[in-house]
Amino acid sequence: MLKINIFRLFPRAVAAASLLAFVAACAQSQTATDEWPTVTSPVVQDPAMEARIAQIVAGMTLRQKIGQMTQADIRSITPDEVREHYIGSILNGGGAWPQGNKHATVKDWADLAGAYYRASMTTDMAVQIPVIWGTDAVHGHNNVFGATLFPHNIGLGAAHDPELVGRIAAETARQVRATGITWSFAPTVAVVQSPRWGRTYESYSSDPALVRDYAHAFVRGLQGDIAGPDAVMASVKHFIGDGGTHGGIDQGETRAPLADLIATHAPGYYGALEAGVQTVMVSYSSWTDSKAGASHGKMHGNRALITDVLKGRLGFDGLVVSDWNAIEQVDGCTKAHCPQAVNAGIDLFMVPDDWKAFIDNTVADVEDGAVPMSRIDDAVTRIIRVKMRSGLFEQSPVPAADRSGAIASDDGEALAREAVAKSLVLLKNRRPGLFPLPRDARILLVGRGADSVVAQLGGWSLTWQGDGTDDADFPQADDMLSALRKAVSDGGRVDFSVDAAGVDPRDYDVVIAVLSETPYAEMKGDIRLPGTLRHSDRYPQDLAVLKAVSGKGVPVVSILYSGRPVYANDLINRSDAFIAAWLPGTEATGIADVLFGDRDFTGRLPFDWPGAACPESSARPVLFARGHGLRAAETAKLRELPLDKVASCPMLDE
Ligand code: BGC
Ligand code: BGC
Repeated sequence: MLKINIFRLFPRAVAAASLLAFVAACAQSQTATDEWPTVTSPVVQDPAMEARIAQIVAGMTLRQKIGQMTQADIRSITPDEVREHYIGSILNGGGAWPQGNKHATVKDWADLAGAYYRASMTTDMAVQIPVIWGTDAVHGHNNVFGATLFPHNIGLGAAHDPELVGRIAAETARQVRATGITWSFAPTVAVVQSPRWGRTYESYSSDPALVRDYAHAFVRGLQGDIAGPDAVMASVKHFIGDGGTHGGIDQGETRAPLADLIATHAPGYYGALEAGVQTVMVSYSSWTDSKAGASHGKMHGNRALITDVLKGRLGFDGLVVSDWNAIEQVDGCTKAHCPQAVNAGIDLFMVPDDWKAFIDNTVADVEDGAVPMSRIDDAVTRIIRVKMRSGLFEQSPVPAADRSGAIASDDGEALAREAVAKSLVLLKNRRPGLFPLPRDARILLVGRGADSVVAQLGGWSLTWQGDGTDDADFPQADDMLSALRKAVSDGGRVDFSVDAAGVDPRDYDVVIAVLSETPYAEMKGDIRLPGTLRHSDRYPQDLAVLKAVSGKGVPVVSILYSGRPVYANDLINRSDAFIAAWLPGTEATGIADVLFGDRDFTGRLPFDWPGAACPESSARPVLFARGHGLRAAETAKLRELPLDKVASCPMLDE
């Protein structure tokens, strides 16, 4: 590298100024380039393994190959069908459990995994190829009854702590392996641009550098040493631009110049690839190059980005998986037929229900020449490579009996509790000495979120949308009420009233109000224009309860459970302290730890916090910038915030 001593060439002051200009120019060129960077995976190809794979592929029939390229949902396929059709992979979509039983035990999961695995190893193929099971363990092993659930990614982003993320991934891998599963559809590395998107909470941050570091840490933690008994293959998703859709619409259109894909939306992939990630999931979204004015259609049909960039330029040699029925959104395709997606470079197809027709159609495509055999061979080679690297050819994924049974552990719970504490962002704190709360305080606890585990978990929690469950489904969890009761000392007291009706706050030392969104996930969680981002438009009870308890001379501490930053000036005005707690998971005890001073507030905003009901069309869209967050001892005089009264937002230009 060429090194110039700028100080020797110029007098000091000039040197400093030109150095700044030079640095600025570098930063600029880094964000404006159309060149993809060079990234290197630490997982290198082993010639002996490659030779073995080539031999296996050479001995396979076309049907066997296409079977390997097929992934079905456990609700739609039996172990016998896996054997008969040479199925390469299965998944449990959100809310799919063994025998359709929400309370299935760890043993039920491991038994089912064993049944699918044994079926895949008793086909009439020349060489048996183990089936690989994928699951969405996106905040712990969240489809499994009794699992410790961590804060959703947005809360981890607030913690700004890659090392913590690595430990969470490793603990998640341990949970997943206990059920006989060896692949997780995580991490999501979306760099979300609009909190309207219902998947904002699956995103760590709007800061690409943080997402890159987290992706690296998560993949390292989950995959471990790849072939080890606790290793789970990661799937970095959703490639690419999922967080940039116009208006924050799920599965929508990302309009951005190529340079933005490279600098803003891709860094999570760089981090994951540099950690040796073995699988990549493609995005439902489409990409329009706004600089070139060219629409490239749905990502599932995008050969240039999947094959030329990801597999070529970025050197990815693992497998690319499609998203749930996503191929049907490619022009000219259906759920069960999409040669465009095969030719674009997707290797494994998540065709949850229509897997049989997909196999028939794809076999026919190869026979007709619509898909070249070389493409099929590449796909199958990659699928076998990932399975071999993960140790599946050597060892059954099903845990020995003495390892299954325990999904939650003391260590896992302590880790979740630590993560919750570190994820809290103290947005406002106007009373010196308010924190830490004394343990003998008389506390009035109010609000819909206060006794609701379901509210603190959000989506992807036992069910897909996080609905259809109640707190009895999470006996392992603490809500705010139980966490506070465990934390107060003998002289202290916690009384709970959801709406504060008939109670006088003046009988207490402090009011804690837990405000919350109700759970949602992809598709259903969007706040579409012209809707506002004002929390109290959707949850008027939260404003009502603050009206009932504020202005009585007793300090009010508000805690908000939300999957996104929201416009909340009305709620913040009525709070002495305001805490963004995101979707903390099963351990509300971590919140109590911070309130009572066992830990300080250290979280900082991973996204800008809106200062307007319609941030996208407002002149002052931001109240608190990304990075904001107070310590317990820091107070700030926040003036009375203006109330933006608009009832709806202008639509964006089409
Ligand atoms: C989501 C993915 C998820 C898959 C399987 C899709 O709808 O977009 O993130 O991995 O479902 O549940
Ligand atoms: C299924 C979920 C799945 C989701 C993916 C839903 O219809 O029930 O299991 O994860 O689709 O979009």
